Amino acid sequence: MERFSALVLAAGNGKRIKSNKPKVLHKILGKSIINHILDSLVEAGINDINLVIGANGDLVKADVDYDVNYAYQEKQLGTGHATLCAKEILNTEYTLVMYGDTPLIKGDTLSYLLKKADRIKADALILTTIADNPSGQGFARVIRKGFSFEKIVQEEDATALERKCKEVSGGITVFKTSSMFKALEQIDNKNENKEYYITDCINKMKADGGHIETVKIDDSWQIFGVNTREQLAKCVAILKNRINAYHMANGVTIIDPNTTYIGKYVKIGIDTTIYPNTYIFGDTEIGENVVIGTNTEIHDSKISDACIIKQSTIVDSDLGKEVSVGPYAHIRPNSKLGDRVKIGDFVEIKNSSIGTDTTASHHAYIGDSEVGNSVNFGCGSVVVNFDGKNKHRSSIKDGAFIGCNANLISPVSIGEKAFIAAGSTITDDVEADSLAIARNKQENIENWVKNKK
Ligand code: UD1
Ligand code: CA
Repeated sequence: MERFSALVLAAGNGKRIKSNKPKVLHKILGKSIINHILDSLVEAGINDINLVIGANGDLVKADVDYDVNYAYQEKQLGTGHATLCAKEILNTEYTLVMYGDTPLIKGDTLSYLLKKADRIKADALILTTIADNPSGQGFARVIRKGFSFEKIVQEEDATALERKCKEVSGGITVFKTSSMFKALEQIDNKNENKEYYITDCINKMKADGGHIETVKIDDSWQIFGVNTREQLAKCVAILKNRINAYHMANGVTIIDPNTTYIGKYVKIGIDTTIYPNTYIFGDTEIGENVVIGTNTEIHDSKISDACIIKQSTIVDSDLGKEVSVGPYAHIRPNSKLGDRVKIGDFVEIKNSSIGTDTTASHHAYIGDSEVGNSVNFGCGSVVVNFDGKNKHRSSIKDGAFIGCNANLISPVSIGEKAFIAAGSTITDDVEADSLAIARNKQENIENWVKNKK
């Protein structure tokens, strides 16, 4: 059995964010708030993760990237009540309780907290920080007598003097599970908001002689909670800066960190340069000496060394070395581009594999195709993959030349080094080394213009 578990409270309505979807599903750098939190719990080595969900909980479940347990809180009667709702599913000696809206928390902070709670045999170990200006932010104040913990009060219930206290809690606490439930069953909701507060559980423990300690961190952003859209934007900015600083420290040039948005687990090799207005998200891996941007979006893709990607969108695809994409190209899901492929302006590739040294330099569409090496797609050439009902696949073998404005009506196979004349509409397979020409012969009518007058 695991010794530590985590409980994330995410049943609240998130009223202040004014949204039709649960607050925890709002995204920060391509990932929902709840998944950011789960990432950190997993980084902290916690395997037993539990979530309290409420109305709209099915939407949360559908979004969660990890295998976690769920408890249900029907009515949002407060954070203490939400924790009680998870009583049946929590059975480890220690439980880390946190809110579902603090996405900037780091895994190593959480693992430190768990280990310390265990070492000092705390009933509750509270993560705190000094907030420069806590007034009006809804932070619970941590009140001390001398150096030792005295109580924790919600801002709404704090006296004017208590509100002046700058030490706050962001709701991240490690509890001895048995002590926590014992105290939770005895708290009331006689407070400003008529809610059962998890913080009152700490005060109850203290009153009963429990061992309460705190850990103060310098980086206040780690406990920053997202309640409003403005705070959501702030979180994006903070995480973006953290991630960009990490890549720059590792030898990546980011021309304008203000307008470069990189997801948390993106990998980038040294001497890669990223130009402004670029978004790189998801499970993306970028090699060395790559040039990306401006105005580029990459999701869940692998970009190998020395590629050049300009003003383009790449989704769920795999690019070999020295591939050049753009400007204004779209590489759609499930595409694989071999080394030195050149995809030029206004070219779209979808669900296709493209061999090495193949070029499609201007205005082409290649969908549902197997393309060999050193194929040339002329300007405006199109693989016609959709007949109005079904998609079909085509294959274009090594060295084939597809003339400008040719249509290859799928399914069709173009043999090695075959030559498709410009403007042809190809409906039948073409043998290797053959010329296929499928268009009307040109007719010139002398003096036609003059005679018309
Ligand atoms: C909360 C804390 C406050 C802390 C601050 C830090 C309480 C009462 N308030 O205030 O001490 O300083 O965060 O940002 O503990 N939730 C439920 N069920 C409920 C109520 C809330 O699951 O009945 C969940 C929410 O989904 C949310 C979290 O608990 O993820 C915190 O609730 P929220 O309304 O954001 O509390 P704050 O007012 O920010
Ligand atoms: Ca909050």
